[in-house]
Amino acid sequence: MTVTEPSTIHTGPAFPSGFAWGAATAAYQIEGAVTENGRTPSIWDTFSHTPGKVAGGDTGDIAVDHFHRFREDVRLMAELGLTSYRFSLSWPRIQPTGRGPAVESGLDFYRALTDELLAHGITPVATLYHWDLPQHLEELGGWPARDTAYRFADYAALAAEALGDRVATWTTLNEPWCSAFLGYGSGVHAPGRTDPADALKAAHHLNLGHGLAVGALRAALPRTAQLAVSLNLHQIRPLTDHPDDLAAARRIDAVGNRVFTGPMLNGGYPADLLADTAHLVDWDTLVQPGDQAEIGRPIDLLGINYYTPTVVSSAENAKDLPRHDGHGGGDQSPWPGAEDVAFHLAAGERTAMDWPIDPTGLTDLLLDVHRTHPGLPMLVTENGAAFEDVVGPDGTVDDQDRIAYLHGHLAAVADAVAAGADVRGYYLWSLLDNFEWAYGYAKRFGAVHVDYATLARTPKASARWYAEVIRTGTLPG
Ligand code: NOJ
Repeated sequence: MTVTEPSTIHTGPAFPSGFAWGAATAAYQIEGAVTENGRTPSIWDTFSHTPGKVAGGDTGDIAVDHFHRFREDVRLMAELGLTSYRFSLSWPRIQPTGRGPAVESGLDFYRALTDELLAHGITPVATLYHWDLPQHLEELGGWPARDTAYRFADYAALAAEALGDRVATWTTLNEPWCSAFLGYGSGVHAPGRTDPADALKAAHHLNLGHGLAVGALRAALPRTAQLAVSLNLHQIRPLTDHPDDLAAARRIDAVGNRVFTGPMLNGGYPADLLADTAHLVDWDTLVQPGDQAEIGRPIDLLGINYYTPTVVSSAENAKDLPRHDGHGGGDQSPWPGAEDVAFHLAAGERTAMDWPIDPTGLTDLLLDVHRTHPGLPMLVTENGAAFEDVVGPDGTVDDQDRIAYLHGHLAAVADAVAAGADVRGYYLWSLLDNFEWAYGYAKRFGAVHVDYATLARTPKASARWYAEVIRTGTLPG
């Protein structure tokens, strides 16, 4: 007798036609092959090789060896039914010193990857910068130095010239908040510097680099390009409606969100941010004439990365409450000008990152952006979760917790769409287990399990669940 499993009944919300069903990765987290094709170190190579910076002393030297296994990985994507794949280009693989001509053999890797994607009917979405600044440019000052923005625009032009015939959708920066404030403020990310003024300078030069790169991409791809930036906009919730807690929320919104959306989308840096940080940087010198016109160049889509909401109060009002550090550890605050704010963990279940699970934050975030920028389509360029995956005797992972997380957050996207938000796609973070930055390989976000001893890939239950959602275009009811 054969036992037939009951087929899944799909009665849940549907998604718009043409909705991009994707998964996302980033070069340093998956590629490995760090010395091939003339690639030189990025700040993450240097940082991960510095004792004490990454859990377990892990590095991206091998990562999941995607550089050599990309054909197998594209096959997995095709089996999942992905219609789109978001990946990042490794700047030091394309332009090893961060200046000068491109290395053709470095570009060849991305030509081969994108050809393979297109051959499988998967639309490539390329991120130009997912945190792997060439170390050479860090030695010349890194993002706190203005010149880095111009170097980034040159690199953007080289990438567009080489790949623009295959790649239509580009995002300039991934989560510049992390690059600026974790990289140069709290120092828990590469390059590990801890100076609040440098963090703010980095934020401005990332903004400028974004705008200059948008200009370079438009010049190289005048008709075809769909240009975006991926921001980890913090969905901020004041702990109470006490005026001090509302003031704390405003400060975090300024240095967490509007430091980017202000100049990119709203015509300039907000006055309250400038006032909150005036003791740290001289904005009049930092922001030069003409910068705003560059940074404010129109984009076609806004990429939103969402994992968990951010609950804040004034430090004074939270003396006796349990709190957390407001992002990723470190002794220094990643929030210049808002050091008197306390962070709290929302109630309820948490992921293995200790991040509270709250899909309503994603609905609220999408609707907030929809209200403030009604004509700007959105992509959820990252969403997903790490859990303590258990590998069964047959090598599979029955990750029902990840399925529940994805289900809740896809339903949250559908809710936002039903309320009018123009969301064009969703990219699950991440296709594969990979190098989770300062946490090394200890945290697994993949829909596909990677055995780090053999590098074997095995789709988890969540991958099969996601494939079914993609196939039907609806969530199981
Ligand atoms: C955001 C980052 O873009 C990605 O690189 C990281 O792995 C995930 N969040 C999970 O922390």
